Amino acid sequence: MVLGLQWGDEGKGKILDVMAGEADWVFRAQGGNNAGHTVEIGRAKYVLHLVPSGILRSGVSCLIAGGAVVDPAGLVGEIQGLHERGIRTRGRLHLASQAHLVLPHHRAVDQGSEKKRGQGKIGTTGRGIGPAYADKAARVGLRAGELALSASELSRRIRDRIRIHNTVAGIQGWEKIAPAPVLREIQQAAKILRPYLCDGVALAHNVLASGKKVLIEGAQGTFLDVDHGTYPYVTSSHCTAGGACTGTGVPPTAIRKVVGVLKAYTTRVGSGPFITEDGMLGHLLHGMGREFGSTTGRARRCGWFDAVLVRRAVRLNGVTELAMTNLDGLDGLEKIPVCTGYRLKGKILREPPVEASVWERCRPVYRIFPGWCEPTTEARHWRDLPAKARSYLLALSKLVGAPLGILSVGAGREQTFRHG
Ligand code: GDP
Ligand code: IMO
Ligand code: MG
Repeated sequence: MVLGLQWGDEGKGKILDVMAGEADWVFRAQGGNNAGHTVEIGRAKYVLHLVPSGILRSGVSCLIAGGAVVDPAGLVGEIQGLHERGIRTRGRLHLASQAHLVLPHHRAVDQGSEKKRGQGKIGTTGRGIGPAYADKAARVGLRAGELALSASELSRRIRDRIRIHNTVAGIQGWEKIAPAPVLREIQQAAKILRPYLCDGVALAHNVLASGKKVLIEGAQGTFLDVDHGTYPYVTSSHCTAGGACTGTGVPPTAIRKVVGVLKAYTTRVGSGPFITEDGMLGHLLHGMGREFGSTTGRARRCGWFDAVLVRRAVRLNGVTELAMTNLDGLDGLEKIPVCTGYRLKGKILREPPVEASVWERCRPVYRIFPGWCEPTTEARHWRDLPAKARSYLLALSKLVGAPLGILSVGAGREQTFRHG
């Protein structure tokens, strides 16, 4: 499986695409179209939101598993976008009937709640992800399989949810939803999506039993996980290794490799604690045209590599190897700080604190590494990297407790190589 070890946008899409060259199937485990996974192939750039990144490899089949939440109109738009670019999805893309639906009233709740929170907002993508997962946990959600119901029954179920939403909307300050356009939109999407529906768990197990090579694609990142992230500044799904098993129905004993994707520095979109955040680094990276969100276009907050966080992520996920991306982002720097501990009231913490409010009071303890001050983007082998870049990477690997596997020095497929 392939997972993010920071706050999302680590380069999972790119690493997935490279690894999918040797896979038969890619299963997307969780999350919704809050994700944006970028893959650059030559001059073509694709940003995938719900469809697994494997779709760009013609020999690979894809499953959006039951742990994901699916905005039907959003998925139809994404499928059509792929078709317009000559990428076939029929017979290759499968949608688990178990996946929950994200409906327009979920978006209204997400956006309305954020507005109400004002300064204290989470900074969500506004895609309705939290409210859709909340309905799932409250056992009132609709699932993708219900798109196969008769038009009248599907409409009845959606109308029912909208009626309840509109009753509460006035009190909560959420936007009310007019049922007619929603019903039209969902019925249209249902027609298009029905042929993609399947029992996601049966499919996953059949694929595994037939000996096919499967990659599980995680979305978001470890510190956006609803249990293990910087709560409440998190998303509403389980973005860690356990969540990938729950989301797909693939048992933990079937997992052979856990590839943890991470940047050679740190970024985060949205609000919440970020101990190593550094405006100067952000300014530098944004000036290079980098670190703008793939889903919302927001400038990502940037900071130094946080080994305290990543060490936790390595343990939580049982990472077997690291896929380190964006090393080239540090090419021009003379000195590179790496956070090895948090200082709190004269004490040094080696584990991230539990409470977001405590995070805010922690200060980073940095170890300073010498920069290499030369481009790495042309490197195609470990030995091509400057000695100081190699030392930096080996030190990070030691600090976080996992071996280096894949290295990435640019967005392109070819700018990727293995350690050693
Ligand atoms: P994901 O959500 O984890 O798939 O990551 P995103 O696609 O949201 O953001 C990662 C960004 O970094 C994308 O624009 C990628 O094209 C880009 N990227 C990935 N690896 C590298 C790398 O090694 N160097 C550079 N310069 N860009 C990279
Ligand atoms: P990928 O898969 C980065 C962040 C949002 C916000 C928080 C909650 O591309 O790495 P949500 O809309 O999920 O309720 O927002 O989570 N967030 C992401 N940040 N990458 C993502 O996905 C993200 N998906 C959600 O910015 O802080
Ligand atoms: Mg992303």
